[in-house]
Amino acid sequence: MKNTFKAVPVTEDVWWVGAIDWNIRDFHGYQTRRGSTYNAYLIVADKITLIDTVKAPFREEMMARIASVIDPGKIDYIVSNHSEMDHSGALPEVIAALNPKKVFASAVGAKTLKELFLIDREITAVKDGETLSLGNRTLTFMETRMLHWPDSMFSYLNDEELLFSQDAFGMHYASVERFADECDPAVLTYEAATYYANILLPYSPLVLKLIEKVTAAGLSFRIIAPDHGPIWRKETGGIIGSYAKWAAQKPEAKAVVVYATMWRSTEKMARAISEGLAAGGLHAKLMEMGAAHRSDVAYELLGAGLLAVGSPTLNNHLLPNIADVLTYLKGLKPKNLIGAAFGSYGWSGEAVKEIEEVLVEMKVEKAGEVIRVKNVPNAETLSRCYELGKTMAEKVHCRL
Ligand code: FEO
Repeated sequence: MKNTFKAVPVTEDVWWVGAIDWNIRDFHGYQTRRGSTYNAYLIVADKITLIDTVKAPFREEMMARIASVIDPGKIDYIVSNHSEMDHSGALPEVIAALNPKKVFASAVGAKTLKELFLIDREITAVKDGETLSLGNRTLTFMETRMLHWPDSMFSYLNDEELLFSQDAFGMHYASVERFADECDPAVLTYEAATYYANILLPYSPLVLKLIEKVTAAGLSFRIIAPDHGPIWRKETGGIIGSYAKWAAQKPEAKAVVVYATMWRSTEKMARAISEGLAAGGLHAKLMEMGAAHRSDVAYELLGAGLLAVGSPTLNNHLLPNIADVLTYLKGLKPKNLIGAAFGSYGWSGEAVKEIEEVLVEMKVEKAGEVIRVKNVPNAETLSRCYELGKTMAEKVHCRL
Protein backbone atom coordinates (compact mmCIF):
# COMPACT_ATOMS: atom_id res chain seq x y z
CA MET A 1 0.00 0.00 0.00
CA LYS A 2 1.25 3.47 -0.84
CA ASN A 3 2.27 5.60 2.14
CA THR A 4 -0.05 8.60 2.47
CA PHE A 5 1.76 10.17 5.45
CA LYS A 6 4.74 12.19 4.24
CA ALA A 7 7.52 13.91 6.15
CA VAL A 8 7.80 17.67 5.64
CA PRO A 9 11.26 19.22 5.12
CA VAL A 10 12.19 21.86 7.70
CA THR A 11 15.76 22.28 6.41
CA GLU A 12 17.83 20.18 4.04
CA ASP A 13 18.60 17.66 6.83
CA VAL A 14 15.69 18.08 9.23
CA TRP A 15 12.20 16.70 8.65
CA TRP A 16 8.93 17.09 10.51
CA VAL A 17 7.64 13.56 11.14
CA GLY A 18 4.89 14.25 13.68
CA ALA A 19 1.15 13.70 13.74
CA ILE A 20 -1.95 15.87 13.50
CA ASP A 21 -4.66 15.38 16.12
CA TRP A 22 -7.66 17.16 14.62
CA ASN A 23 -10.08 16.01 17.30
CA ILE A 24 -8.54 16.54 20.72
CA ARG A 25 -10.62 19.02 22.70
CA ASP A 26 -9.26 18.69 26.24
CA PHE A 27 -5.70 18.93 27.48
CA HIS A 28 -5.90 18.35 31.24
CA GLY A 29 -8.60 20.98 31.67
CA TYR A 30 -7.53 23.30 28.83
CA GLN A 31 -10.09 23.34 26.03
CA THR A 32 -8.31 22.87 22.70
CA ARG A 33 -10.94 23.91 20.17
CA ARG A 34 -8.54 23.79 17.23
CA GLY A 35 -7.05 20.36 18.03
CA SER A 36 -3.27 19.96 18.21
CA THR A 37 -0.20 18.43 16.63
CA TYR A 38 2.49 16.26 18.19
CA ASN A 39 5.67 17.28 16.45
CA ALA A 40 8.57 14.86 16.11
CA TYR A 41 11.65 15.71 14.06
CA LEU A 42 14.12 13.59 12.16
CA ILE A 43 17.69 14.82 11.71
CA VAL A 44 19.25 13.00 8.77
CA ALA A 45 22.87 13.50 9.83
CA ASP A 46 25.70 10.93 9.93
CA LYS A 47 24.00 9.69 13.08
CA ILE A 48 20.31 9.72 12.23
CA THR A 49 18.42 11.17 15.17
CA LEU A 50 14.76 11.36 16.12
CA ILE A 51 13.77 14.28 18.37
CA ASP A 52 10.76 13.34 20.49
CA THR A 53 7.96 11.03 19.42
CA VAL A 54 4.16 11.38 19.47
CA LYS A 55 1.16 10.41 21.58
CA ALA A 56 0.80 6.62 21.58
CA PRO A 57 -2.21 6.28 19.20
CA PHE A 58 -0.32 8.28 16.55
CA ARG A 59 2.78 6.06 16.42
CA GLU A 60 1.92 4.56 13.02
CA GLU A 61 1.43 8.00 11.50
CA MET A 62 4.86 9.08 12.75
CA MET A 63 6.53 5.87 11.58
CA ALA A 64 4.99 6.26 8.12
CA ARG A 65 6.30 9.83 7.86
CA ILE A 66 9.78 8.65 8.91
CA ALA A 67 9.59 5.84 6.35
CA SER A 68 8.85 8.41 3.63
CA VAL A 69 12.43 9.70 4.15
CA ILE A 70 14.57 6.80 5.44
CA ASP A 71 14.32 3.22 6.62
CA PRO A 72 13.27 3.75 10.30
CA GLY A 73 15.63 0.91 11.28
CA LYS A 74 18.53 3.25 10.43
CA ILE A 75 17.74 5.63 13.31
CA ASP A 76 20.82 5.76 15.56
CA TYR A 77 19.65 8.04 18.35
CA ILE A 78 16.41 9.19 19.94
CA VAL A 79 16.34 12.36 22.03
CA SER A 80 13.44 12.83 24.44
CA ASN A 81 13.19 16.54 25.27
CA HIS A 82 10.08 16.06 27.40
CA SER A 83 8.64 12.90 28.87
CA GLU A 84 4.96 13.92 29.04
CA MET A 85 2.92 11.26 27.26
CA ASP A 86 1.87 13.41 24.31
CA HIS A 87 5.54 13.26 23.24
CA SER A 88 6.77 10.01 24.74
CA GLY A 89 3.66 7.80 24.53
CA ALA A 90 4.97 6.14 21.38
CA LEU A 91 8.55 5.91 22.69
CA PRO A 92 8.49 2.43 24.31
CA GLU A 93 7.17 0.77 21.15
CA VAL A 94 9.51 2.77 18.93
CA ILE A 95 12.49 1.72 21.06
CA ALA A 96 11.32 -1.89 20.99
CA ALA A 97 10.82 -1.85 17.21
CA LEU A 98 13.95 0.09 16.18
CA ASN A 99 16.44 -0.65 18.96
CA PRO A 100 18.35 2.63 18.49
CA LYS A 101 21.97 2.75 19.64
CA LYS A 102 21.18 5.34 22.30
CA VAL A 103 18.26 7.19 23.84
CA PHE A 104 19.00 10.56 25.45
CA ALA A 105 17.05 12.62 27.96
CA SER A 106 17.81 15.03 30.82
CA ALA A 107 18.74 13.37 34.12
CA VAL A 108 15.18 13.85 35.41
CA GLY A 109 13.80 12.82 32.02
CA ALA A 110 15.74 9.54 32.04
CA LYS A 111 14.31 8.71 35.45
CA THR A 112 10.80 9.85 34.52
CA LEU A 113 10.71 7.79 31.31
CA LYS A 114 11.64 4.68 33.28
CA GLU A 115 8.96 5.42 35.88
CA LEU A 116 6.27 6.15 33.29
CA PHE A 117 6.92 3.27 30.92
CA LEU A 118 9.01 0.80 32.92
CA ILE A 119 11.50 0.90 30.02
CA ASP A 120 14.04 -1.86 30.49
CA ARG A 121 17.00 -0.29 28.75
CA GLU A 122 19.53 2.39 29.44
CA ILE A 123 18.50 5.99 28.87
CA THR A 124 21.57 8.23 28.66
CA ALA A 125 21.21 11.30 30.86
CA VAL A 126 22.64 14.52 29.43
CA LYS A 127 23.56 17.70 31.27
CA ASP A 128 22.83 21.34 30.60
CA GLY A 129 25.28 22.57 27.94
CA GLU A 130 26.42 19.07 26.96
CA THR A 131 26.92 18.45 23.25
CA LEU A 132 26.27 15.37 21.19
CA SER A 133 28.10 14.80 17.93
CA LEU A 134 25.94 13.46 15.12
CA GLY A 135 29.03 13.27 12.89
CA ASN A 136 28.48 16.13 10.50
CA ARG A 137 26.10 17.92 12.90
CA THR A 138 26.16 18.81 16.61
CA LEU A 139 23.32 19.02 19.11
CA THR A 140 23.59 21.04 22.32
CA PHE A 141 21.25 20.28 25.21
CA MET A 142 19.80 23.00 27.44
CA GLU A 143 17.98 22.15 30.64
CA THR A 144 14.68 24.02 30.98
CA ARG A 145 13.60 22.54 34.28
CA MET A 146 9.94 23.23 35.15
CA LEU A 147 9.15 24.54 31.67
CA HIS A 148 6.84 22.96 32.26
CA TRP A 149 7.91 19.63 33.81
CA PRO A 150 11.03 18.94 35.89
CA ASP A 151 12.49 16.87 33.03
CA SER A 152 12.06 19.44 30.25
CA MET A 153 15.00 20.38 28.05
CA PHE A 154 15.71 22.01 24.70
CA SER A 155 17.98 20.62 21.98
CA TYR A 156 19.79 23.06 19.73
CA LEU A 157 21.13 22.06 16.33
CA ASN A 158 24.14 24.38 16.24
CA ASP A 159 24.90 24.31 12.53
CA GLU A 160 21.31 25.15 11.56
CA GLU A 161 20.62 27.51 14.52
CA LEU A 162 17.53 25.39 15.01
CA LEU A 163 15.96 25.09 18.44
CA PHE A 164 13.85 22.04 19.26
CA SER A 165 11.88 23.70 22.05
CA GLN A 166 9.47 20.92 23.13
CA ASP A 167 6.32 22.53 24.61
CA ALA A 168 7.72 26.08 24.70
CA PHE A 169 6.74 28.42 21.85
CA GLY A 170 4.08 25.94 20.80
CA MET A 171 0.33 26.04 20.52
CA HIS A 172 -2.57 23.63 20.24
CA TYR A 173 -3.47 24.12 16.60
CA ALA A 174 -4.15 21.32 14.12
CA SER A 175 -3.60 22.45 10.55
CA VAL A 176 -2.18 21.18 7.29
CA GLU A 177 0.30 24.07 7.35
CA ARG A 178 3.55 23.22 9.10
CA PHE A 179 5.07 26.70 9.28
CA ALA A 180 3.84 29.74 11.15
CA ASP A 181 4.38 32.01 8.15
CA GLU A 182 1.79 29.95 6.24
CA CYS A 183 -0.92 30.43 8.91
CA ASP A 184 -3.36 33.23 9.75
CA PRO A 185 -1.38 35.55 12.09
CA ALA A 186 -4.49 36.35 14.16
CA VAL A 187 -5.04 32.64 14.87
CA LEU A 188 -1.37 32.20 15.79
CA THR A 189 -1.42 35.15 18.19
CA TYR A 190 -4.59 33.93 19.86
CA GLU A 191 -3.56 30.27 20.13
CA ALA A 192 0.01 31.01 21.27
CA ALA A 193 -1.30 33.36 23.98
CA THR A 194 -3.99 30.87 25.06
CA TYR A 195 -1.33 28.14 25.27
CA TYR A 196 0.98 30.37 27.33
CA ALA A 197 -1.84 31.41 29.67
CA ASN A 198 -3.01 27.83 30.26
CA ILE A 199 0.31 25.98 30.42
CA LEU A 200 3.31 28.20 31.04
CA LEU A 201 1.94 31.08 33.10
CA PRO A 202 2.83 29.57 36.51
CA TYR A 203 6.45 29.30 35.38
CA SER A 204 6.74 32.89 34.12
CA PRO A 205 9.70 33.79 36.40
CA LEU A 206 11.62 30.83 34.90
CA VAL A 207 10.65 31.91 31.37
CA LEU A 208 12.16 35.34 32.03
CA LYS A 209 15.35 33.78 33.42
CA LEU A 210 15.65 31.47 30.42
CA ILE A 211 15.24 34.35 27.96
CA GLU A 212 17.95 36.25 29.86
CA LYS A 213 20.22 33.20 29.79
CA VAL A 214 19.94 32.57 26.05
CA THR A 215 20.29 36.29 25.31
CA ALA A 216 23.46 36.44 27.43
CA ALA A 217 24.80 33.35 25.64
CA GLY A 218 24.29 35.17 22.32
CA LEU A 219 22.40 32.23 20.82
CA SER A 220 20.44 32.97 17.70
CA PHE A 221 17.48 31.00 16.50
CA ARG A 222 16.91 30.83 12.79
CA ILE A 223 14.19 28.23 13.33
CA ILE A 224 12.18 27.34 16.44
CA ALA A 225 10.59 23.92 16.18
CA PRO A 226 8.17 23.29 19.06
CA ASP A 227 6.39 20.03 19.89
CA HIS A 228 2.92 21.49 19.20
CA GLY A 229 1.61 23.64 16.37
CA PRO A 230 3.49 25.37 13.56
CA ILE A 231 7.25 25.83 13.23
CA TRP A 232 8.68 29.35 13.43
CA ARG A 233 11.15 29.92 10.59
CA LYS A 234 10.82 33.68 10.10
CA GLU A 235 11.20 36.41 12.69
CA THR A 236 11.60 33.95 15.56
CA GLY A 237 12.23 36.98 17.78
CA GLY A 238 8.50 37.71 17.56
CA ILE A 239 7.39 34.70 19.57
CA ILE A 240 10.31 35.11 22.01
CA GLY A 241 9.27 38.76 22.49
CA SER A 242 5.68 37.69 23.12
CA TYR A 243 6.88 35.22 25.77
CA ALA A 244 8.91 37.97 27.47
CA LYS A 245 5.81 40.21 27.51
CA TRP A 246 3.44 37.52 28.77
CA ALA A 247 5.91 36.35 31.41
CA ALA A 248 6.38 39.90 32.73
CA GLN A 249 2.61 40.07 33.44
CA LYS A 250 2.61 43.85 33.37
CA PRO A 251 -0.99 44.97 33.96
CA GLU A 252 -2.87 46.65 31.12
CA ALA A 253 -6.12 48.64 31.09
CA LYS A 254 -8.11 45.46 31.02
CA ALA A 255 -10.44 43.77 33.52
CA VAL A 256 -12.09 40.37 33.76
CA VAL A 257 -15.40 39.90 35.58
CA VAL A 258 -16.13 36.23 36.16
CA TYR A 259 -19.43 35.15 37.63
CA ALA A 260 -22.12 32.50 37.88
CA THR A 261 -25.77 33.18 38.50
CA MET A 262 -28.90 31.30 39.61
CA TRP A 263 -31.74 33.79 39.18
CA ARG A 264 -29.81 36.69 37.64
CA SER A 265 -29.20 38.69 40.84
CA THR A 266 -25.43 38.13 40.74
CA GLU A 267 -25.54 38.71 37.00
CA LYS A 268 -27.11 42.16 37.49
CA MET A 269 -24.31 43.00 39.92
CA ALA A 270 -21.67 41.73 37.47
CA ARG A 271 -23.10 43.85 34.66
CA ALA A 272 -23.23 46.96 36.84
CA ILE A 273 -19.60 46.42 37.93
CA SER A 274 -18.46 45.94 34.34
CA GLU A 275 -20.32 49.15 33.29
CA GLY A 276 -18.41 50.98 36.03
CA LEU A 277 -15.11 49.44 34.91
CA ALA A 278 -15.78 50.52 31.33
CA ALA A 279 -16.78 54.02 32.47
CA GLY A 280 -13.44 54.08 34.30
CA GLY A 281 -11.62 53.44 31.02
CA LEU A 282 -10.95 49.71 31.24
CA HIS A 283 -11.64 47.12 28.59
CA ALA A 284 -13.94 44.94 30.69
CA LYS A 285 -14.65 41.34 29.75
CA LEU A 286 -17.76 39.84 31.35
CA MET A 287 -17.62 36.04 31.56
CA GLU A 288 -20.51 33.93 32.84
CA MET A 289 -19.20 30.48 33.65
CA GLY A 290 -22.17 28.71 32.09
CA ALA A 291 -21.09 30.22 28.77
CA ALA A 292 -17.32 30.65 29.11
CA HIS A 293 -14.70 27.94 29.60
CA ARG A 294 -12.04 28.15 32.30
CA SER A 295 -9.29 28.23 29.67
CA ASP A 296 -10.93 31.28 28.05
CA VAL A 297 -10.79 33.02 31.42
CA ALA A 298 -7.07 32.19 31.68
CA TYR A 299 -6.56 33.69 28.20
CA GLU A 300 -8.47 36.88 29.04
CA LEU A 301 -6.56 37.28 32.30
CA LEU A 302 -3.23 37.45 30.42
CA GLY A 303 -2.29 41.13 30.72
CA ALA A 304 -5.38 42.05 32.76
CA GLY A 305 -5.04 44.36 35.74
CA LEU A 306 -8.19 43.30 37.55
CA LEU A 307 -10.18 40.20 38.38
CA ALA A 308 -13.67 40.48 39.93
CA VAL A 309 -15.45 37.27 40.86
CA GLY A 310 -19.11 36.82 41.76
CA SER A 311 -21.24 33.89 42.86
CA PRO A 312 -24.54 33.29 44.60
CA THR A 313 -24.57 30.82 47.47
CA LEU A 314 -25.74 27.25 46.88
CA ASN A 315 -26.00 24.94 49.90
CA ASN A 316 -23.62 27.18 51.89
CA HIS A 317 -20.95 27.27 49.16
CA LEU A 318 -19.97 28.66 45.78
CA LEU A 319 -21.74 27.57 42.63
CA PRO A 320 -19.69 24.62 41.29
CA ASN A 321 -18.54 26.30 38.09
CA ILE A 322 -17.08 29.21 40.07
CA ALA A 323 -15.27 26.75 42.35
CA ASP A 324 -13.96 25.12 39.16
CA VAL A 325 -12.56 28.28 37.58
CA LEU A 326 -11.09 29.53 40.87
CA THR A 327 -9.27 26.23 41.43
CA TYR A 328 -7.91 26.40 37.89
CA LEU A 329 -6.82 30.04 38.14
CA LYS A 330 -5.21 29.52 41.55
CA GLY A 331 -2.96 26.87 39.97
CA LEU A 332 -1.96 29.22 37.15
CA LYS A 333 -0.66 31.79 39.67
CA PRO A 334 -1.45 34.99 37.77
CA LYS A 335 0.41 38.01 39.15
CA ASN A 336 -0.10 41.76 39.57
CA LEU A 337 -3.88 41.62 39.87
CA ILE A 338 -6.23 43.64 42.01
CA GLY A 339 -9.82 42.54 42.45
CA ALA A 340 -13.01 42.07 44.39
CA ALA A 341 -15.62 39.50 45.34
CA PHE A 342 -19.36 39.99 45.05
CA GLY A 343 -22.57 38.00 44.99
CA SER A 344 -26.16 37.54 46.00
CA TYR A 345 -27.69 35.06 48.43
CA GLY A 346 -31.03 33.82 49.72
CA TRP A 347 -30.39 33.12 53.41
CA SER A 348 -26.86 32.11 54.43
CA GLY A 349 -24.51 33.78 51.89
CA GLU A 350 -21.12 32.09 52.38
CA ALA A 351 -20.05 32.18 48.72
CA VAL A 352 -18.62 35.70 48.71
CA LYS A 353 -16.41 34.93 51.71
CA GLU A 354 -15.16 31.79 49.96
CA ILE A 355 -14.26 33.84 46.89
CA GLU A 356 -12.44 36.37 49.05
CA GLU A 357 -10.40 33.58 50.65
CA VAL A 358 -9.30 32.27 47.25
CA LEU A 359 -8.44 35.76 46.02
CA VAL A 360 -6.25 36.21 49.11
CA GLU A 361 -4.54 32.87 48.37
CA MET A 362 -3.98 34.07 44.80
CA LYS A 363 -2.44 37.29 46.15
CA VAL A 364 -5.05 39.36 44.34
CA GLU A 365 -4.95 42.72 46.11
CA LYS A 366 -8.33 43.90 47.40
CA ALA A 367 -9.46 46.80 45.21
CA GLY A 368 -12.71 47.89 46.81
CA GLU A 369 -15.65 47.02 49.03
CA VAL A 370 -17.11 43.53 49.04
CA ILE A 371 -20.73 43.72 47.92
CA ARG A 372 -23.06 41.00 49.06
CA VAL A 373 -26.80 41.35 48.54
CA LYS A 374 -29.76 39.41 49.91
CA ASN A 375 -32.11 38.15 47.19
CA VAL A 376 -32.28 40.86 44.50
CA PRO A 377 -30.09 43.97 44.09
CA ASN A 378 -32.12 47.19 44.13
CA ALA A 379 -31.19 50.38 42.26
CA GLU A 380 -29.05 51.59 45.17
CA THR A 381 -27.05 48.34 45.30
CA LEU A 382 -26.53 48.37 41.54
CA SER A 383 -25.31 51.94 41.80
CA ARG A 384 -22.79 50.79 44.45
CA CYS A 385 -21.66 48.03 42.06
CA TYR A 386 -21.21 50.60 39.29
CA GLU A 387 -19.21 52.90 41.59
CA LEU A 388 -17.11 49.93 42.73
CA GLY A 389 -16.26 49.30 39.08
CA LYS A 390 -15.25 52.94 38.57
CA THR A 391 -13.15 53.03 41.75
CA MET A 392 -11.38 49.79 40.82
CA ALA A 393 -10.71 51.11 37.32
CA GLU A 394 -8.97 54.16 38.81
CA LYS A 395 -6.79 51.86 40.90
CA VAL A 396 -5.81 49.82 37.83
CA HIS A 397 -4.86 53.02 35.99
CA CYS A 398 -2.61 53.98 38.90
CA ARG A 399 -0.69 50.72 38.42
CA LEU A 400 -0.12 50.97 34.67
FE1 FEO B 1 3.05 18.74 25.19
FE2 FEO B 1 3.99 18.91 28.41
O1 FEO B 1 3.48 18.04 26.86
